[in-house]
Amino acid sequence: MGELLILNGSPRAPRSNSRQYALLFAKSYPQAVETFAVGQCRPWDLCRAMEDCSDLLLVFPLYADGLPSPLMGFLQELEKDPPHNRPVISILINCGFLEPEQNDTAIRILRRFCQKNGYPLGSILKIGGGEAILSTPFRFLAKREIRQLAKSIHRRSYGTFQVTMPLSKQMFLRASSRYWENCGKRNGLTREQMSAPQIENESPPPQ
Ligand SMILES: Cc1cc2nc3c(=O)[nH]c(=O)nc-3n(C[C@H](O)[C@H](O)[C@H](O)COP(=O)(O)O)c2cc1C
Repeated sequence: MGELLILNGSPRAPRSNSRQYALLFAKSYPQAVETFAVGQCRPWDLCRAMEDCSDLLLVFPLYADGLPSPLMGFLQELEKDPPHNRPVISILINCGFLEPEQNDTAIRILRRFCQKNGYPLGSILKIGGGEAILSTPFRFLAKREIRQLAKSIHRRSYGTFQVTMPLSKQMFLRASSRYWENCGKRNGLTREQMSAPQIENESPPPQ
C-alpha cells in the first residue's frame, strides 16, 4: 500500500504534453511512482496494479470539452471489471485554451465516475495553455503547481489547484496563432491547409 500509479490518458502518450507533466510530477513526488499509458497497456494490467496502490493520478488533455475517447474507453472497461481496492483518484488535466476553467466539464465527468464506482476523489490540477506553458518563461508556474499537487497527494491533504500563463486573451491568441502557423510552415503547410478537414488525415494535403 502507499504506492502511486500514474495513467497517461493522452492518445499521443509517448510524445504528449501529458507525458511531460507526468514526468514533472514524478520528480516532485517523494516516492517512486509507476506510470501506465492508455493505448500501451490493457485496462486489466492497470486494474491488477491498482490492487496494491493507494493513489491513482490521471494525467490527460482536454479533448472537445471532455475526456479523450481512448481514456473514456479505458474507464468503461475499468467500470465493467473493477479492482477490489479502490484508490483515491487525483487529476492533472491540461487544455489548449488559456482558461483553466475550460477543464471543468471533464472534471465533472470524472467526479461522476468516481461517485458511481466508489473511488474517493483526491486532488485536482487544471492547467490552461497546457500545449505551450512548458516551453515559455512561465514554465516555472506550472512546475510550482505540480509540486503543490504532489505535496497534497503525498500528505493526503487533497485540494484543487490551477495555473495558466499570465497573458491577456488577445496576446495569447496572437502568440498561439503565430506558433501554429510556424509549426505549419516547418511541415510545408499554409494556414488555409491547416484549417481544412484533410488536416486530420495521415498525409498532408497536396500543395
Ligand atoms: C482532438 C483535440 C481536441 C481538443 N479539444 C480541446 C478543447 O475542447 N479545449 C481546449 O482548451 N483544448 C483542446 N485541445 C487541445 C489539447 O487539450 C492540448 O493541445 C493539450 O496540450 C494536448 O495534450 P497532450 O499532448 O497530452 O495530448 C484539443 C486537442 C485535440 C487534438
